[in-house]
Amino acid sequence: MSFYLIVGIAALGGLLFGYDTGVISGALLFIRTDFALSAGMQGLVAGIALAGAAVGAAFAGGLSDRFGRRKVIFFTGLIFILGSLVAALAPEVTTLLLGRLLVGIGIGVASMLTPLYLAETAPARSRGALVSLNQLAITVGILVSYFIGYLFAQHGQWRWMLALGAVPGVILSVGMLTLPETPRWLAGHGRMAEAGAVLRRLRGSGDIEAELGELRTDILREGGLPSWRELLSPTVRLPLIIGVGLAIFQQITGINTVIYFAPTIFQAAGLSSASAAILATAGVGVVNVAMTLVAIRLIDSVGRRTLLLTGLLGMAACLLLLGLGFAIGAASGALGWITALSLAAYVGFFAIGLGPVFWLLISEIFPLRLRGRAMGIATIANWGFNLLVTVTFLELINIFGRPGTFLLYAILTVAAFIFTRALVPETKGRSLEQIEADLHSRG
Ligand code: BGC
Repeated sequence: MSFYLIVGIAALGGLLFGYDTGVISGALLFIRTDFALSAGMQGLVAGIALAGAAVGAAFAGGLSDRFGRRKVIFFTGLIFILGSLVAALAPEVTTLLLGRLLVGIGIGVASMLTPLYLAETAPARSRGALVSLNQLAITVGILVSYFIGYLFAQHGQWRWMLALGAVPGVILSVGMLTLPETPRWLAGHGRMAEAGAVLRRLRGSGDIEAELGELRTDILREGGLPSWRELLSPTVRLPLIIGVGLAIFQQITGINTVIYFAPTIFQAAGLSSASAAILATAGVGVVNVAMTLVAIRLIDSVGRRTLLLTGLLGMAACLLLLGLGFAIGAASGALGWITALSLAAYVGFFAIGLGPVFWLLISEIFPLRLRGRAMGIATIANWGFNLLVTVTFLELINIFGRPGTFLLYAILTVAAFIFTRALVPETKGRSLEQIEADLHSRG
């Protein structure tokens, strides 16, 4: 099987993540009438998948350290299928919530195991691009969900919107049956011969001796089985602060207020017709995909740090502009479009920096021995803060108004910039083992 097929199948985890987080905003418009949902209940239907994702992330690390990345991803595909069908067929809201909870658990597991699987199978020189295919798949999933939402909206077929999530779930599970376990996990479990065989298969004709040698040294240095307590040890502290810090910043700088609430924001900015709001939302989805492609091209040459810092500066500027736009009175025609453009640019800057770089870095900076668990913690933080931002956004607007709310996100983005400058290392072109040795000595 070609390396690219392996990458393609593994990246389906990202597609499901994007699709299933994106689809609910469109579906909710109809579910709320069908099931006569109160505002609070609507929030629960939207939020329960995010809470489920935090739960999924909590288990994914330990399970995948123990049973292997591949088996756990396979079962995740099954959870997606089950959850999508339960939600799509739900006769009442409790069953719907159960289905969305299951889907959420699947999203949480996939969100960390997809980049982890890709990082542990990719060669060092193109690891950035290959792992970022996960983020590309997320953005494509979001775009497809907007499109499907639009397509099925004409007849209010929300059940179809939710059911379609099962399709990539099937491909992911069936595909995973044919993929190998990662060489790094095998080596970490004393299965050196199998690790060598998989590496040979992945690298084709290339020389794998150096890579195997590095793996061997790494494993000798690390010794026996991991424990949760080791996460508190001083050597893991720095990577953990970086990983959890970026996880939180990726969310509190506001990306999902746009991804989940774009039509609402656009209408408030003066694009009052539904079709203008939908068009603008689709535009944002396309910018998100396109700029992720740009990031993939640059991430292994320009490097993670530069992209992250540039992206954060751009995001802060756009948020400021957005706040100003709303302050001056976005309700007039031209300002509506200025707001739309700065929102699209904001998403573009997220897509070349914080979007892909966060998921990439957390698959790179932790020691092999604790990689699954430590990534799990960063991922839980990411979903926890995603939920927090999502449920507080409309409330913040009530309290601070739109200008104040976007200004707050701008300030948090500046804080993210300062954090990154001070702590985030450059990891391009280095093997996971070299990165580990480096952070170990810095820590
Ligand atoms: C984030 C998601 C976000 C998506 C947008 C991902 O990296 O984790 O919360 O919805 O990017 O493209």
